[in-house]
Amino acid sequence: MTTQLRRAELFGTPIWQTTLPEFSPYHDKVMQAMRERWDAGLFEYHQYAFGYNTPTDIFGEESFKANPHYRVLQAGLRSACERILERREGYAKKVACQLNCIQAWIRLQTPEDKGFPWHHHIPAELSGVYFVNVPGSLPLGEGDLTFQDSQPGNIFQTSFHSVRPETGALVIFPSYLLHKPTPCPSATDWRIGVNMDAYVEWSR
Ligand SMILES: [Fe+2]
Repeated sequence: MTTQLRRAELFGTPIWQTTLPEFSPYHDKVMQAMRERWDAGLFEYHQYAFGYNTPTDIFGEESFKANPHYRVLQAGLRSACERILERREGYAKKVACQLNCIQAWIRLQTPEDKGFPWHHHIPAELSGVYFVNVPGSLPLGEGDLTFQDSQPGNIFQTSFHSVRPETGALVIFPSYLLHKPTPCPSATDWRIGVNMDAYVEWSR
């Protein structure tokens, strides 16, 4: 006789997904701005981070003057991160904190891009990617956001988890998690994501 074998997952690492419909009306504006930046020769490969990236000042005052719609995105990230922090655990529940969502940059992923390195966003606490454009009809596995388990590997659990993003999705994850995008050689358009870091200041 074979008895029932029940499995429970322990100590899972959370990631969160939501949408920001309030930013959807600005997707075309962002894509147009990226095309203009590209045409002006302002995207230099590996200049700021791996691949084609803007500087990290998208949420800066100068950027807001020219592109006030980025305030909508910043507010959306802040709101989502505050909701996440409301459910923090342990002693952190007793300590007040302030959230600073000050760092953001836009990354273009072209079909030719390949071999992204694993990386984390420490010392940020929460990091997010808002997908302004994910090319449609990508084969399974292309254009994913892949995470690596931060614990040592074992034979009972996979060490990797992939999120298949869609246009308009906001994916938020602990900044310490190693992650990387998978290449999308079949894409017929750019995969465009706004990468954002949120820093938590704990009160003393
Ligand atoms: Fe990243």
